[in-house]
Amino acid sequence: MKRIAVLTSGGDAPGMNPAIRAVVRKGIYEGLEVYGVYNGYQGLIEGKMEPMTLGFVGDIIQRGGTKLYSARCPEFRTEEGQKKALEQIKKHQIDGIVIIGGDGSYQGSMVLTKHGIPCVGVPGTIDNDIPGTDYTLGFDTALNTVVEAIDKIRDTATSHERTFIIEVMGRDAGDIAVWAGLAGGAETILIPEVNESMESIVQRLESGSSRGKKHSIIIVAEGVMSGNEFADRLKEHTAMDTRVSVLGHIQRGGTPSARDRVMASQFGAKAVEVLLQGTGGRAIGLRHNQVVDYDMKEAFEGKHELDLSMYHLSKELSI
Ligand code: F6P
Repeated sequence: MKRIAVLTSGGDAPGMNPAIRAVVRKGIYEGLEVYGVYNGYQGLIEGKMEPMTLGFVGDIIQRGGTKLYSARCPEFRTEEGQKKALEQIKKHQIDGIVIIGGDGSYQGSMVLTKHGIPCVGVPGTIDNDIPGTDYTLGFDTALNTVVEAIDKIRDTATSHERTFIIEVMGRDAGDIAVWAGLAGGAETILIPEVNESMESIVQRLESGSSRGKKHSIIIVAEGVMSGNEFADRLKEHTAMDTRVSVLGHIQRGGTPSARDRVMASQFGAKAVEVLLQGTGGRAIGLRHNQVVDYDMKEAFEGKHELDLSMYHLSKELSI
């Protein structure tokens, strides 16, 4: 293996930049040439890639987003698109690729691996929902962004004795909602994994207000329904003064936290080590606090399991 490439794909996440840095520097440290591919799989199809230097990845460890840009690429799902990408890979003499992204991004890399280009996946998504790993890059930073927002909203919620519904990201997984809800002392957390009746939600809100609570915080994961839709439903059951706050894409930006930088460095370096063994179709992850590699198929054939004990604990603590 002489020359490897790195790309970022799918929704961006804080931690992608430090992961790119780790792949480039570890690769160069090991005597490899490292190419950066721009705009994810789209860039691979178009041959938008260039050699990376140590300096190119300088001053990015603390930056959110991805210096290589990211994209979702429907063309890569077609045989035609895959053929074009393989031609570019051959043309640039790339021997292996590190893909930083979510499980959707991993599926593309299996195609390349099957065609003899070993690929290794580094989990990068704020949703923390890739099967086979306990952690995905960006989750900690996003979580801290949400908790900071909850704390601020709580101030104004208290002043006006209001109920606030805060919509957070998480299309299929409730990780951000549960962790942020527990850390932010939310009264109620709505997640795709658990179906709670409106009666029980209202009963908890009312019991809080009857014992003198001045405000309530409800966290809604976007995968359940929108914050506005939930507010409309709640209005049918209570006369509480309610406001909605949709946090949106601020959750995807910002300086990566120390945890994300450290994990990104470890994941990126491990990905290069795995590629150096000539193995493809592997995903990097964290299991029992150890950085590991595992069969990438697990990432899209398995199921992500949210730790529901935190959800239940949050309920116990918000009585
Ligand atoms: O990165 C994952 C995620 O943040 C999901 O929680 C969300 O539904 C989605 O990306 C939105 O992404 P985009 O606006 O880029 O399509």
